Amino acid sequence: MVQDSWQRTIEYVRVSLTEACNFCCPYCRPEAITPDSQTNLLTPDEWLVILEAFHKLGIRALRLTGGEPLLYPQLDRLLKELQQRAWFEDISMTTNGSLLADRAERLHKLGLQRVNISLDAVDEATFDERTGRTGQLQSVIDGIEASLAAGFKTVKINTVLMEALSDDMVRSLLAYMDKWPVIWRFIEYMPFQGQKFRGPTFEMWHQQLERLCGGRLLPVGSATNTKAVTGFGPATYYRLPQGHLVGFIFPMSHSYCESCNRVRLTSDGRLRLCLLRDEEADLVGLVRQGKTAKELAQHIVNILQLRKEQHEGTDMDVPQRAMWRIGG
Ligand code: GTP
Ligand code: 5AD
Ligand code: SF4
Repeated sequence: MVQDSWQRTIEYVRVSLTEACNFCCPYCRPEAITPDSQTNLLTPDEWLVILEAFHKLGIRALRLTGGEPLLYPQLDRLLKELQQRAWFEDISMTTNGSLLADRAERLHKLGLQRVNISLDAVDEATFDERTGRTGQLQSVIDGIEASLAAGFKTVKINTVLMEALSDDMVRSLLAYMDKWPVIWRFIEYMPFQGQKFRGPTFEMWHQQLERLCGGRLLPVGSATNTKAVTGFGPATYYRLPQGHLVGFIFPMSHSYCESCNRVRLTSDGRLRLCLLRDEEADLVGLVRQGKTAKELAQHIVNILQLRKEQHEGTDMDVPQRAMWRIGG
């Protein structure tokens, strides 16, 4: 187990495999970036040296993100190699789901245990607005249903609350919860690069959900709160009167810094110490110089000591990387 100098144990690493994405969500990747660059990607062998170093440091959970991780050309090979090595007790992925329908079953066989899928709206017009694409809602719904059929330990839905949702929109989400055995998470919008915050506060969202569900949201206690179900991230979970499990991630109204258990790896092979700070250290350069996983592990321990106690907020003057370049 490795700790930073604020006694926070690091147990979870989020790997952005590629910056490429086939969607342009306004809060993440607002301007169309074409063509989707897949340059500077690491090979599976390079990722394996870096991930072995994290395994040696006692990291238990690995999350693959992007951009869109399903666009990483050698994803199946990477998963296969990881499956053979069994370094991590939990391997999960965050995806936009649009390319998942044909691949969910195979990914599950290759050892992927959990998927988190972004879905901001279930009506086509709003969904198109939220993804900067047209006609893709069905592909994501198919991806979710294929994931449920494939047998992942959990399928979570991530809904970013960019602005207040109408009661009708919330009712349609609740109708999907009746249909799908998923864990639905609501994420407070984090404005980046001069964007304006216009999402509902935690209290507003909590009240609207209680009103439309017709009862209290019950906080989920630690007995049910096992990592296998609720994962390694910052969400807090509640049970709806109808029995559904929902998660809240409200990074603007609540700070998660004190219990931060995670670091990030960028798609160009750099260790990023915080979502909202630009401190990074190159790792793949060391791999390319021939450093071993053991040597890398020692280097990572030293770098982790540079982690700051808190982030700087989302209004960094000139962030080096917007969301799509970090992987959330
Ligand atoms: P599990 O809990 O293991 O299922 O995963 P997760 O919730 O960590 O993963 P996911 O990729 O689904 O992330 C959900 C949201 O949480 C994204 O919007 C992330 O940006 C946000 N998030 C994750 N870690 C942090 C963090 O350290 N700080 C902030 N502010 N947001 C975070
Ligand atoms: N604010 C909140 N959540 C965001 N995500 C991406 N950008 C933002 C933002 N600015 C979410 C995506 C995805 C997860 C990895 O991060 O919806 O579910
Ligand atoms: Fe792509 Fe995900 Fe960013 Fe949307 S949130 S643009 S799907 S990386």
